[in-house]
Amino acid sequence: MYADNQPPNLNRGELFKEVEVVCQTKTGHELDVAFSCSVVQTEVEGLQDFVYIGRDITKRKQAEAEIHKALAKEKELHELKSRFVSMVSHEFGNPLSTVLISTELLKQGGEKITPQKKERYLDCIKAATKQMNQLMNDVLVLGKTEAGKLDFQPSPINLKSFCSDLVAEIKMKDGQNHHLLFVTTEPSNDSGNLDQFASLDEKLLRHILTNLLSNAIKYSPQDSTIQFEVIFQDESVIFEIKDQGIGIPTEDQKKLFESFYRAKNVGKIPGTGLGLAIVKQAVDIHGGKIMVASEVGVGTTIRVKIPLTSQF
Ligand SMILES: Nc1ncnc2c1ncn2[C@@H]1O[C@H](COP(=O)(O)OP(=O)(O)O)[C@@H](O)[C@H]1O
Ligand SMILES: [Mg+2]
Repeated sequence: MYADNQPPNLNRGELFKEVEVVCQTKTGHELDVAFSCSVVQTEVEGLQDFVYIGRDITKRKQAEAEIHKALAKEKELHELKSRFVSMVSHEFGNPLSTVLISTELLKQGGEKITPQKKERYLDCIKAATKQMNQLMNDVLVLGKTEAGKLDFQPSPINLKSFCSDLVAEIKMKDGQNHHLLFVTTEPSNDSGNLDQFASLDEKLLRHILTNLLSNAIKYSPQDSTIQFEVIFQDESVIFEIKDQGIGIPTEDQKKLFESFYRAKNVGKIPGTGLGLAIVKQAVDIHGGKIMVASEVGVGTTIRVKIPLTSQF
């Protein structure tokens, strides 16, 4: 056994406190050893020996590591629970009170209420119910992905028309609030182009792109530009969504894909913190990767790269 432990500076009879060292056996195995050391007087006056006694504490160290892991897991679950509670209280609480207030006003107004007002209250109820329904759907999708029960059914998709239809749909919902640009970049050689069919799961791709595009819209000021670029490479496709919005603080960037996690600069912008968790699962299933580049107050660019191994 080898260990590069320096003898401590001790007086005779003094017992050195335990020191833990990782040692290697001759066969190359690592062992955790706790050494205690004491000073022993030799027959020669003024000459002392150091006696080290080593105990193999590998098992104890392993048990400690397990406990640390369990504690970290528990802490993570606790944080998840707090984020869930805070999300539910906002995202269910607000639309529920909208429904309650609107129905109460409708009831109180009775016959006297004008058709315009009635319409407005009913619209509020509809929007609030839609918001809660969306939340329920997100929770269900995420539940399925985390339980590994998400269907993955890749089939040939014409990416160019799929993406431009989606952009048209999103533009219609957003009204004239943002300039949403759709750009496609095709390789100069013949190895692939966007009119070709890519084998991806359409439902999951819709989850990925609608979440990323609706985030870009939601976190960007009115009239700003959002660029959605689809880059077709030889063996992969890249979806890049670039906005000029509020940006994401660096310390939040690595946690964005955790369920219910929201960056600290969201202010009053509503959200559940589920969208990117769903995006991550959907990209993982496709064997893809997500990259985030963002600066607070400047904007965010999110890139999703998906390999097209079995392109039709
Ligand atoms: N384009 C973006 N610009 C700024 N922040 C973003 C953007 N996309 C995501 N985020 C941050 O990532 C968090 C997680 O996103 P997401 O899971 O979609 O949840 P949310 O329901 O809050 O939109 C958001 O709460 C926000 O803090
Ligand atoms: Mg979102």
